[in-house]
Amino acid sequence: MTHVIRTEQETKKLAGEFAQKLRGGEVVFLNGDLGSGKTTFVRGVAQSLGFHEPVRSPSFTLVNRYKVSSGGINEIVHVDLYRLKTPDELRALALDEEIGRNDAIVFVEWPQNAQGLLGESTYSIDFVINGDSRAITIRQQSLTPHQPM
Ligand SMILES: Nc1ncnc2c1ncn2[C@@H]1O[C@H](COP(=O)(O)OP(=O)(O)O)[C@@H](O)[C@H]1O
Ligand SMILES: [Mg+2]
Repeated sequence: MTHVIRTEQETKKLAGEFAQKLRGGEVVFLNGDLGSGKTTFVRGVAQSLGFHEPVRSPSFTLVNRYKVSSGGINEIVHVDLYRLKTPDELRALALDEEIGRNDAIVFVEWPQNAQGLLGESTYSIDFVINGDSRAITIRQQSLTPHQPM
């Protein structure tokens, strides 16, 4: 499903609607160029699930965690692999302990840099800038929450 977006607020509104579908255990891959709105989308999800502290890209730490309490969801794990250099660096994050945990949602920016190490996603979202507007396409990749690796 593709949504044409004209403002940052619309991106966050769409993120809030998406958040209401989440039940825990989902893994969401975010694809798109720098500045296309991936982090803005995660911010919208986090705010919608009741997290009111700043949400910034984990550019250097590679992962941020946001504590929430919404339905069965207790944590949002926000991963940004833009600066990932080696598979060992990814393994050191021990994300396999969080991926598929049924009270966590895992968002991954630049998932292609993981070169398959993260397994399959539940949703894949594409962010494309088209002149003055943007397109956000949400695809469900699997019907069941993520299976542990
Ligand atoms: N419709 C929009 N959705 C999201 N961000 C937008 C939009 N229009 C303009 N922006 C701006 O684009 C930038 C997106 O940044 P960010 O979400 O960090 O991108 P990414 O994580 O994909 O690199 C922000 O500076 C934001 O203010
Ligand atoms: Mg980002």
